[in-house]
Amino acid sequence: MLVSAAEMLKKAKAGHYAVGQFNINNLEWTKSVLLTAEELKSPVILGVSEGAGKYMTGFKTVAAMVKAMDEELGITVPVALHLDHGTYEGCYQCIKAGFTSIMFDGSHYPIEENVAKTKELVAVSHNLGLSIEAEVGSIGGEEDGECADPEECKSIADLGVDMLAAGIGNIHGKYPENWAGLSFETLDAVQQKTGEMPLVLHGGTGIPEDMIKKAISLGVAKINVNTECQLSFQEATRKYVEAGKDLEGKGFDPRKLLAPGAEAIKATVKEKMELFGSVGKA
Ligand code: 13P
Repeated sequence: MLVSAAEMLKKAKAGHYAVGQFNINNLEWTKSVLLTAEELKSPVILGVSEGAGKYMTGFKTVAAMVKAMDEELGITVPVALHLDHGTYEGCYQCIKAGFTSIMFDGSHYPIEENVAKTKELVAVSHNLGLSIEAEVGSIGGEEDGECADPEECKSIADLGVDMLAAGIGNIHGKYPENWAGLSFETLDAVQQKTGEMPLVLHGGTGIPEDMIKKAISLGVAKINVNTECQLSFQEATRKYVEAGKDLEGKGFDPRKLLAPGAEAIKATVKEKMELFGSVGKA
C-alpha cells in the first residue's frame, strides 16, 4: 500500500521504534525489501537517491515499477516511496513522477535559503498529500559529518516538515576505525527543541546496535540503510561465482545468478527491522 511517510513516522515516534528506509537500486532490491516488509508486517520506506533514480532511467520508471510491484505482490503494509537527499529540482521531478515522499537536502545552503526553499516545498508536497524530510547539519561522506545546530533544527521543524535529519556525527558508507561515534548530546538537544518531530538517522550502515537503540530512545523514528544491503548483495554474489555455480547447468540465468544476492538483502532488511522494532507495526 503506497502512502506518505507521515503517519507511519508519527506512530513510530509515539511507539518508540524506528521505520527503516532501505535504498533501492533495481528490481531485485525493490522486490526483496517489499517482500520482507510484508512478511514481517512492518511499515517501510523505499529510498531513491538521485543517482539511483538516474541509473533506473528516471524517477518515472521508478515510480511506475514500485506502484506496479506493490500491487502485483499484494503488499498490504504501508510503503512510502521517498526521494533521498533531493535537490530542489529533483524534488519537483519526484513530485511529478508520483513519489509519496521527498527529502529536500538544503543543508549546503545558508540557513535562510534552506528555510525559504523548504517552506515552499512543504506547501507543495502537503497540498498533494506527500510527506517531506529536511536536513540540518551535514551528514558526512568520506569525512566526518558536521553536527546540527539545535536552534536551526527548530527553525526548519517549525516549517511543518514531517521528519528531520539532523547531523549528529553520522556518515554515509562504512565508518572509519577512528570514528568518534554518534553525538547523543546533539541528538538530545535537537529532540528537546523539536519535540514531537520524528528525527531521521542517516548512515545506518555499521552503527553498533546499542547506539541505534539509544538513538531511538532519544527520538529517532526513521533510520536509513543503503551500503549494508549493497555489501550483503556483493558478498552473496561473490560466493556464488567463486563456487563456480554460474558455470553449472543454467547457473548463468540472471534469475539464478542474482538470487543469492536478493536473499542476502532480505536477510539484512529483516535484521534491521528487528533491531529498529518495526516488526508487527504495520
Ligand atoms: P548508509 O549507506 O551508510 O547506510 O547510509 C544510507 C543513507 O543515509 C541514505 O540517505
